[in-house]
Amino acid sequence: MEEVIVSERLPTVAEYIGLRTTMGWGRIDQATSDRTLQAAAFTVCLHRRDRLAGIARVMGDGALYFFLADLIIAPEFHGSGYGERLMQAVTSYFDRSALPGATITLVALNGQEAFYEKFGFMRCPSGPFGTAMHYAAAPPPG
Ligand SMILES: CC(C)(COP(=O)(O)OP(=O)(O)OC[C@H]1O[C@@H](n2cnc3c(N)ncnc32)[C@H](O)[C@@H]1OP(=O)(O)O)[C@@H](O)C(=O)NCCC(=O)NCCS
Repeated sequence: MEEVIVSERLPTVAEYIGLRTTMGWGRIDQATSDRTLQAAAFTVCLHRRDRLAGIARVMGDGALYFFLADLIIAPEFHGSGYGERLMQAVTSYFDRSALPGATITLVALNGQEAFYEKFGFMRCPSGPFGTAMHYAAAPPPG
């Protein structure tokens, strides 16, 4: 098997739970993992020696509204070019799927903005967009 495989497919429920847990984002149960994986419009996985080392997921309708919800590389592989490989797959998906007038967004974690600028994202406010906002009453990780 090739060392690194990038594939447009879903990870297993257990793989996704495991990768999120390594990021310290709280543990989700199997039903929640399955539900959110099935709901994505686009998912790309990066496997290294049969292990899930990274994932990117886009939520949305696949035509007009796209939200890059997840981009995760396992911490021991940061700086290996894997994030770039996933972003190339994600922007290729945007380029072939987005219809005229589409809105394609993400909310970068603090300090990650420059990474996304490499792949064509612009900081808000920009054009018709104001600053990004989030719902402050959303429940924190469990
Ligand atoms: C952000 C993340 C996906 C980057 O993945 P990665 O595999 O470490 O990045 P790569 O090795 O592919 O880096 C590609 C390029 O981006 C640069 N880069 C990486 N992280 C960066 C950052 N935070 N800011 C600016 N540039 C960054 C690299 O230096 C590299 O530049 P180069 O092409 O000039 O050499 C990864 O660090 C990660 O999973 N972080 C934790 C989760 C997270 O923060 N996700 C994003 C949530 S918004």
